[in-house]
Amino acid sequence: MSCSLKRFIPVITNNKHTLQAIIEKSLYSTATSSPNTIIVNGKEFETDSEKTNVPQNILKLTDKALHLKASHPIGILRTLIENKLNSDDHAFEVYNNFKPAVSVFENFDSLGFPKDHVGRSKSDTYYINKDHLLRTHTSAHEMFCFGNIQKKITDKPGYLISADVYRRDEIDKTHYPAFHQMEGARLWPKTEAGQKQLKKDISVLETKLNQIKNFTVIDMPYKEETNPKQKHMTKEEVQLVSTHLKRTIELIVAEVFNKKLASEGKTNEEIKSRWIEAYFPWTAPSWEIEVWWKGEWLELCGCGVVREQVLTNAGMGTNEKIGWAFGLGLDRVAMLLFDIPDIRLFWTDDQRFHEQFKENTISSFKPYSKYPGTIRDISFWVNNSIDIHENDLMEIVRNTAGDLVESVKLIDDFVHPKTGRRSLCYRINYQSMDRNITNEEINNLQDTVRANLVEQYKIELR
Ligand code: DAH
Repeated sequence: MSCSLKRFIPVITNNKHTLQAIIEKSLYSTATSSPNTIIVNGKEFETDSEKTNVPQNILKLTDKALHLKASHPIGILRTLIENKLNSDDHAFEVYNNFKPAVSVFENFDSLGFPKDHVGRSKSDTYYINKDHLLRTHTSAHEMFCFGNIQKKITDKPGYLISADVYRRDEIDKTHYPAFHQMEGARLWPKTEAGQKQLKKDISVLETKLNQIKNFTVIDMPYKEETNPKQKHMTKEEVQLVSTHLKRTIELIVAEVFNKKLASEGKTNEEIKSRWIEAYFPWTAPSWEIEVWWKGEWLELCGCGVVREQVLTNAGMGTNEKIGWAFGLGLDRVAMLLFDIPDIRLFWTDDQRFHEQFKENTISSFKPYSKYPGTIRDISFWVNNSIDIHENDLMEIVRNTAGDLVESVKLIDDFVHPKTGRRSLCYRINYQSMDRNITNEEINNLQDTVRANLVEQYKIELR
C-alpha cells in the first residue's frame, strides 16, 4: 500500500451549519435512523463523533453478499474451493453468513494485534463506533469458530468462512473498499493420537498432490531464527502441522489454476508456486504462498500455525489442540480466473455482466463495451498544521464519485525550496463501466471533490 500523505488529525468544526457538518451528516447518517445511530444489516448501532467514519455508500455494500450468489464469479470461486477442501473427509464446517459488523475485540484484540498496529487506525478501517467496525478480515471470526469446536457445537475439526471485508484503501483497478476473503482452519488434539491422525491426513493430501503432474512448488527448509515457532510446540508438531497446511493450500492452488487452464484448453501448461516467510500476529510460524502468473509472482494467501492465545481466547485449555489457519483473498483470484479487468465490475447491477457467468463454470468475461474515461488533475498545497492521509483523499473522491472513479494516482509531490511548503498533484481517472459520462457531470464531481478537500483539510488549491 503506498502512502504518500501521512497520518494526521482531521479538523472538526463546532459550527453545525458549516458545509463540513452537512457533508458529515450526509455521509454518516441514514434516512431510516436518527443522526446518532446507523443501521448495518438491519441492526442499529450508536455512532460516536470521535470514531464513526463509515459512509453511506459503504454501508450499502454490506447487504450485497456477492459470495452467496452461485453464478457470480466470487460465488463460483468460493464454491470451487469449498468443494475441493471438503471432497474427501468433510473436515470443514462452512460458515458463509457472518455479518460484517464485528467488535474491535473480535477483529483485532482476540488475534493479538498490538495496540498501535496501523490496521487499527481510522485512516485504514471503517469504524461504526469506538467498539465496532466493519471487519477488515475474515480472521475476525476465528475466535467464534474455534469456540464452536471447543463447545462441540460442530464435530468437524476445521472450518471455512467466506465473507465480505472492508478497508479504506487506494483506488485502482484491483482495489475496492469492499472485497472478499475465505478463512480456513483445522485443529488436532495435542496428543500422540492427534499426531498419528495428522500423519494419516498428510499422506492423503500427498497422494492427491502426486497425481497432479503440472504443478511445481518452491519451498525452503524451515528456519526458526527468522520464523519462530511457539514454545509450547515441539519441532515435530510444527513440522507436521505446517506440512498439512502447505499441502492443503497447494491443493487449492493447483485446483483453481488447473480449472483456469482447462477453461482455456491449456491443460499441459505448468503451474509454479512458491512459499515465503511472513508475519501475522495470530500465527507462528507464518507463510505466504505466491503463484507465477502472466510474468509475475502473485500473492495468494497468508497462513500459519495458530497461536495458542487465539485458542485459549476461544475457551480451549493450554496444550490441548494444535492446528493451522489461512486467509485467502477471493477477488483478485476471481479477476484472473474470469478475465475481469476492473474490480468495480463485481459490484455492478448491469445484467450484461451477470448473464455471462454460470454456476460451477469458469469462463472469460467479454467486455460489453469500453466507455471512454476522462482525466482531471487536482493540485494543492498541503496545510502543514493539518495532516492528511492518502486514504482520506481517496474517501472524499469515492464518496463524491462512487463507482465512476476508476483510479486515483499521485503524479507529483514536491517541496518548494524557498517556502518549504509541500505540493501534491493527484490524477483522477473518471470512467463508467456501464455508460457514457458527460464532461459537465464530471466537472461537477471534480468541483465537489475540490470543495470537500478545502473544507475538510484546509488545503490550498493551485
Ligand atoms: N487476515 C489476513 C489478511 O487479511 C490473512 C490471513 C493470514 C489469515 C494468515 C489467516 C492467517 O488466518 O493465518 O491479510
